[in-house]
Amino acid sequence: MKFNALLDDIVSYEAGKPIELVVRDFGIDSKDVVKLASNENPYGCSPKVQDAVRDIVANMALYPDDSMMNLKAALSSKFEVNEDELIIGAGSDQVIEFAIHAKASKGSKILMNSITFAMYEIYAKQVGAEVVRTTSREHDLEEFYALYKEFNPEIIFICTPNNPTGDAIDAQALKKFLDKIDSETLVVVDGAYMEYTTFKDASKSVTPKELISAYDNVLYLGTFSKAYGLGGMRVGYGIAQPDIIKAFYKLRPPFNITTLTLEAATVALQDEAFVQECIAKSFSEMEHYAAFAEKHQLEIIESFTNFVTLVFDEKRSASKLAQELLERGMIVRDLKGYGLNAIRVTIGTPAQNDRFFELSNALL
Ligand SMILES: Cc1ncc(COP(=O)(O)O)c(C=O)c1O
Repeated sequence: MKFNALLDDIVSYEAGKPIELVVRDFGIDSKDVVKLASNENPYGCSPKVQDAVRDIVANMALYPDDSMMNLKAALSSKFEVNEDELIIGAGSDQVIEFAIHAKASKGSKILMNSITFAMYEIYAKQVGAEVVRTTSREHDLEEFYALYKEFNPEIIFICTPNNPTGDAIDAQALKKFLDKIDSETLVVVDGAYMEYTTFKDASKSVTPKELISAYDNVLYLGTFSKAYGLGGMRVGYGIAQPDIIKAFYKLRPPFNITTLTLEAATVALQDEAFVQECIAKSFSEMEHYAAFAEKHQLEIIESFTNFVTLVFDEKRSASKLAQELLERGMIVRDLKGYGLNAIRVTIGTPAQNDRFFELSNALL
């Protein structure tokens, strides 16, 4: 069968290997498998969320509230933005899809960092847009500006802090960059891990309110999949001025967020103390990874997220370690596909991290 020719150029997104497949492929008991590959919160979500969703399970016959009244009210109050400046997606991933479909088409240019979240490119190619990338590993805003001038892109993706490298951009530098961008270019500021950056270094933290009140062409993205521990619920959000949100609404499928998910996300926002505790534990555990990197002479990129990226020299293969760990039930992310001889490891619980160190110390 012939398909849309645009699909020929797309390589499907490969998610972190699920625990179920490691159990099946390597015959390891599921309780002995540790997944540190997708930057989830190893402590899960607030216990309040678990209590709230239990009540919902008793009645699932009706469609969800498609106005998303409660979740929108909670997000609007948290971020001090109006409800018509918000859109909720099945993961922030879906909001990325809305943004690209709303703004780009065949022949459009979309500018992004050399190494960044893979879905930007996949959605870009779905509409036949051309991806323009910088060359530097971390975001270099001067290079971004030069490429913006040269290619006049429809969309610029700024991922701060960046996945899969963990580095974050100075907030003042970002605003200076945004000052120079024409309001016809949509700038997506993807803050999937911003809660971690805000905790660690205020100078690299931006809020959606400050961005959208100063710039009518900025879309801020956030998610409940990381710090809020709701990866399995699939819920994220976009915040921008109302005309952008209105355009995205034309692309949104009805009932894109389930009743269970709406409740979970709304209640999660009521327990910020839980989230802050998890973030504190994550950064405290991260120190052990710095010591591990030093011991094995690996480069560790300074991280403003809940993961670390360990870069290997050319004498050792990061992919080999990732594979050997996998066979022992430890799932980490091999970054070969991003052109890096590196692995990305989500900071787990102390026990999960100790297991990573124990296995890796024996293998390296
Ligand atoms: C930078 C970045 N943006 C967006 C997403 C999408 O997150 P979700 O669709 O789970 O909200 C991810 C997920 O890994 C990410 O790392």
